Amino acid sequence: MIKISEYITKLVPYTPGKPIEETKRQYGIKEVIKLASNENPLGPSPLAIDAIKKNLHLLNLYPDGSCFQLKEEISKYYEFRPQNIVFGNGSDELCDFLVRLVCEPGDKILTSHRAFDTYRLSAQVARCDTTFVPQTSDFKFDLKNFKKHWTPKHKLIFLTNPNNPTGTYNTKSEMDAFFEDFGNNNDVIIVIDEAYFEYTRAADYPNSHVYVRKFSNVVSLRTMSKVYGLAGLRLGIMFANEGLCELVNKVRKPFNINSLMQVAAMAALKDIDFLEKTKKLTWQGLDFFYEELKKMNLQYLPSQGNFVLFDTKKDSLEVFEQMLKKGIILRPVKNYDLPTWLRMSVGLMTENEKAISALREALL
Ligand SMILES: Cc1ncc(COP(=O)(O)O)c(C=O)c1O
Repeated sequence: MIKISEYITKLVPYTPGKPIEETKRQYGIKEVIKLASNENPLGPSPLAIDAIKKNLHLLNLYPDGSCFQLKEEISKYYEFRPQNIVFGNGSDELCDFLVRLVCEPGDKILTSHRAFDTYRLSAQVARCDTTFVPQTSDFKFDLKNFKKHWTPKHKLIFLTNPNNPTGTYNTKSEMDAFFEDFGNNNDVIIVIDEAYFEYTRAADYPNSHVYVRKFSNVVSLRTMSKVYGLAGLRLGIMFANEGLCELVNKVRKPFNINSLMQVAAMAALKDIDFLEKTKKLTWQGLDFFYEELKKMNLQYLPSQGNFVLFDTKKDSLEVFEQMLKKGIILRPVKNYDLPTWLRMSVGLMTENEKAISALREALL
């Protein structure tokens, strides 16, 4: 057998949320609610569904590899030139592109010890280690500490704002201070992953596009998987300076965005009603969770995403299992050094209510 690098043989793969069908089979139950992957409980944008239906007859053709029309639309919407935009098959693919582009084997990436796992995975496949900066006691990225951990070997820094799985965020003043140190550092690229951007309510939450416009080493990532309800079709959007976008396009496969996603994304962008409805439902769900968790005396982290992380005060895997038996899928976060905590996505209000009453029983 050919020798395979230990970076691969020792790789611990990403664990996605447990699928609904698998849970039904395993526990012999008919009704299962999945609050495990921060998906949109309202389904896809209805305008996107219409666009997909109207374009099914074109599936014999290869998609437009340059995504010309979609890029024009995104360009107008976000006020970036098309040259400043690259699409990925999900923003996780964009993370992969960036690592492949920038890192040589033996280089490193820098992120927080409780951040989205995809960064570590992309780095490991590229034979690179990840340095994890511990979070602050209030579960935030410790941006002041990044400077202490950074070395010229660290070619990429991944910041997640708001962060998953904690739901916490870094404020504008914290980010401004961070960019005083790193903004003009030509030896590193800073990626700001804003998968949950649209759900944020905090007045001092900073939009990463400001930093992209100001510094040539900053990349902003957004996704259509969350608020637009299109996780199954996959579209990540990268904003960065023109030179970097050109290089990322060299790494990208020509047809990475399928034709249905291209038309769905253009339609979803215009679906303001759906966007507003999703945000309203999410905020209502979060406020409901906060009230109920308070009544149960459980610590939770106020969230800027569409999920909440809370402390069960028990072995989280046991509570997770109890919840599965009751037909509710949550997300354990043990691998983030949080052995008693669970993450719960916001669902429809009826689903949220069922989840809370199941949780009460599970914690008895
Ligand atoms: C912080 C963060 N970034 C990126 C993603 C992935 O987004 P996409 O579906 O666009 O790959 C997620 C998905 O859960 C996420 O939580």
